[in-house]
Amino acid sequence: MADFLTDVHELRAKARAEIMNGPVTDAYHADLPRVIELLNTALATEIVCTLRYRQHHFMAKGLDSEPVAQEFLEHSNEEQGHADLLAGRIAQLGGTPDLDPERVVGRAHSEYVPATDLRQMIRENLVAERIAIASYSEMIEWLGDGDPTTRRILEEILAREEEHADDMLTFLESDR
Ligand SMILES: [Fe+2]
Ligand SMILES: [Fe+2]
Repeated sequence: MADFLTDVHELRAKARAEIMNGPVTDAYHADLPRVIELLNTALATEIVCTLRYRQHHFMAKGLDSEPVAQEFLEHSNEEQGHADLLAGRIAQLGGTPDLDPERVVGRAHSEYVPATDLRQMIRENLVAERIAIASYSEMIEWLGDGDPTTRRILEEILAREEEHADDMLTFLESDR
């Protein structure tokens, strides 16, 4: 047996004894309370982004607004999907997804900016995406190899936020 592996009997005995910890075993190497706190911060950020994009979707007016308004709606739905992924992981780790609206606003990295002008909306969304990209990148770096499943979730979301930022930039550039 490779010497970095725990003896199978010990592994089985521990799995049984600590059954109420669910998926969290001794092989979990991250700072669990901090991971849950960070995931809740990301969750709050996604909720704020969901709402901002949705407001922009309904308020996008003008001749060329239709494709942009549709993209806002698509992004809003994807941000909600990210929020669900994060909330699911928090619960899986034994934490509580915090969706209390009063705390969500305070905790989120992104801002809720209800814009009226189409160009201003696109700009605000690009800023928010860049904030999300920076904070997901930092979380992934901090997490290292301590929790590969959470890391994979964050990496998937990060890739999506990069696409979102690119979508917004494309709109800005096509409007010159
Ligand atoms: Fe997102
Ligand atoms: Fe996004």
